[in-house]
Amino acid sequence: MDIFTFGVVGSGQMGNGIAQVAAQSGLKVIMSDIKEEFVAKGLAVIDKNLARNVEKGKMTAAEKEAVLGRIKPTVNLSDMAAADYVVEAAVEREDLKFNIFKELDSVCPPHVMLASNTSSIPIGRIAFQTKRPERVIGMHFMNPVPVMKLVEVIRGIATSDETFQITWNLCEKFGKTAAQAADYPGFIANRILLPMINEAVYCLFEGVGKPEDIDTVMKLGMNHPMGPLALADLIGLDTCLAIMETLYNGFKDSKYRPCPLLRKYVEAGWLGRKSGRGFYSY
Ligand code: CAA
Repeated sequence: MDIFTFGVVGSGQMGNGIAQVAAQSGLKVIMSDIKEEFVAKGLAVIDKNLARNVEKGKMTAAEKEAVLGRIKPTVNLSDMAAADYVVEAAVEREDLKFNIFKELDSVCPPHVMLASNTSSIPIGRIAFQTKRPERVIGMHFMNPVPVMKLVEVIRGIATSDETFQITWNLCEKFGKTAAQAADYPGFIANRILLPMINEAVYCLFEGVGKPEDIDTVMKLGMNHPMGPLALADLIGLDTCLAIMETLYNGFKDSKYRPCPLLRKYVEAGWLGRKSGRGFYSY
């Protein structure tokens, strides 16, 4: 099965990154969101990233224009009818993703595969919203998408071998390395990463360390490229909380209890870089 047109639902920090790597690999891309201003912002981020590549001599100005020319923005999810494969990268909320998958299932031809970039919602539950569970899979990119080499590929219980293989091949086409994870809450990446971040928030909550000290320990002591609190700000604190809730509810194990301070920040609208304030100010 050949993929020529790649659909991306959501033009936020994950969606625009996925659209960029797909367009850079030569595919035509349809990038959708619910408002014109969101798709315009997503396109502006891609433009800025590509312009940086041109400045660094990694790409010519003509190549940049060709990549941008392959991305068609839209505010109509029904435009995904023209895509050969669709990945959903909307906000990490189950009700919202379920509605998107129901709508995609009704507009996309039955042979089209539907992937979710969910960071922790079970693929089986998402697949159950459609009449094509064998064509639903997890395609979990890491942030920032153009830089990070990994894509975690998650097979739902009903995912077919063909869906898995085509998804795996797409990751390679995008210049990424895929790793396979089974469909349990948090998969592999966030099952390990988020409890570490949550523990860093507990260290702050309990006064064990200031944000700078917590991050310095992990950066210089463990050679992490950035500290856990700075990384939480990059991921988005609402997303971090949503993932911890999924782990906590999914395993019913108190070791995944979200730190109350994380919840307090999210309730105050301190969501990290995207809102200008998280554990640090931007
Ligand atoms: N978009 C595109 N490119 C970016 C970028 C962005 N947002 N941020 C940085 N880059 C590029 C830079 O342009 C630079 O490119 P060149 O090598 O071509 O010059 C390169 O990345 C390195 O950037 P910097 O020199 O500015 O900074 P750095 O060396 O500190 O790297 C970083 C920045 C890549 C973000 C690095 O700090 C890092 O790897 N951090 C950890 C990121 C991480 O753990 N991501 C996973 C998050 S978890 C997740 O996404 C899953 C989930 O479900 C929550």
